[in-house]
Amino acid sequence: MYTFGTMIQKLKKDPKRIVFTEGTDERILEAASRLLAGNFLTPVLLGSKKDVEAAAEEAGYNIRGAEIIDPANFDRFDEMVEQFCEIRKSKGVTPEQARTILSGGNYFGTMLIKMGIADCLLGGATYSTADTVRPALQIIKTKPGNKIVSSCFILVRPSATGDNEVLAMADCAINIKPNEDELVEICGETVSCAKVFGVDPKVAFLSYSTFGSGSGEDVDKMRNACRKAKAAYPDVPIDGELQFDAAVSPTVARTKCPDSAVAGYANTFIFPDINAGNIGYKIAQRMGSFEAYGPILLGLNAQINDLSRGCNAQEVYSMAIITGALA
Ligand SMILES: CC(C)(COP(=O)(O)OP(=O)(O)OC[C@H]1O[C@@H](n2cnc3c(N)ncnc32)[C@H](O)[C@@H]1OP(=O)(O)O)[C@@H](O)C(=O)NCCC(=O)NCCS
Repeated sequence: MYTFGTMIQKLKKDPKRIVFTEGTDERILEAASRLLAGNFLTPVLLGSKKDVEAAAEEAGYNIRGAEIIDPANFDRFDEMVEQFCEIRKSKGVTPEQARTILSGGNYFGTMLIKMGIADCLLGGATYSTADTVRPALQIIKTKPGNKIVSSCFILVRPSATGDNEVLAMADCAINIKPNEDELVEICGETVSCAKVFGVDPKVAFLSYSTFGSGSGEDVDKMRNACRKAKAAYPDVPIDGELQFDAAVSPTVARTKCPDSAVAGYANTFIFPDINAGNIGYKIAQRMGSFEAYGPILLGLNAQINDLSRGCNAQEVYSMAIITGALA
């Protein structure tokens, strides 16, 4: 099971190189300086050496030991262009187009992972989720056996006794309207990720209906997806379709679905679409005192993660550790 302590221990034994696509951003520089002090992740900061160093000095962060790579002055750029054209040859990308595309830190950084120059990437301090994720989808692609890349959030509510409450929620960030089969895949990936963070998953397929109390296309979708997920992962407790109150409240569950082994005790939530998921995790974060870690991308061939543009340096630092540990 991963805690930040165990993730740092793992990285100390096997340090990784992590690309930050926004190398001059003050929050990135603060997180980079803290990572360097810990000596378990080497930040690779994208940007011109002069700009990155000036930004660090102005903000007062020591980034000695970080690697700075300037996309405009990279000695393996021709090789990168060639590889990118090969990867995107079905789209007819020309070398000229590739040079323009790769001048952006999001594409350039992703190619550094593809070329094995760094192990993992964290972007999105200023890039949107779509602009961080799209290069990963196009260049890194889904891992064998997976049809989609998806994502989950790990939510942690610290407790004074140290017995933190940990939940997983998906897909709150990538797939806008997943179909039944995609929901099954999201469920499988989220269960695996939740286990890594110490959750013993009890999965609820969420809806506005509990076992047929409501009706509609989306209710059918969640009920069918749940049935398929139960068949695909017979060892995992899964139930649905469930309303959120039935999923988490034993009292409500006793009334609405007394025969469910999951209802009342769910800790892993599969949302019907990105609207519900994104709003749902943010309610837990902003009004439920949960710390939210993610989106953790699932199903990619390499660990690339996205930050919220509203993130602070502590969130960058935490997500960097998660990204490195999962790499
Ligand atoms: C993830 C997302 C950016 C991809 O959509 P897009 O940019 O329109 O990308 P496209 O549909 O053009 O697809 C680009 C490539 O990625 C692939 N792709 C798209 N979605 C994918 C997925 N979920 N899994 C795997 N591959 C995917 C496509 O097949 C395509 O491959 P190709 O170029 O090799 O043919 C889009 O689904 C999105 O915007 N999601 C919501 C992001 C968001 O705003 N989140 C909320 C904030 S956290």
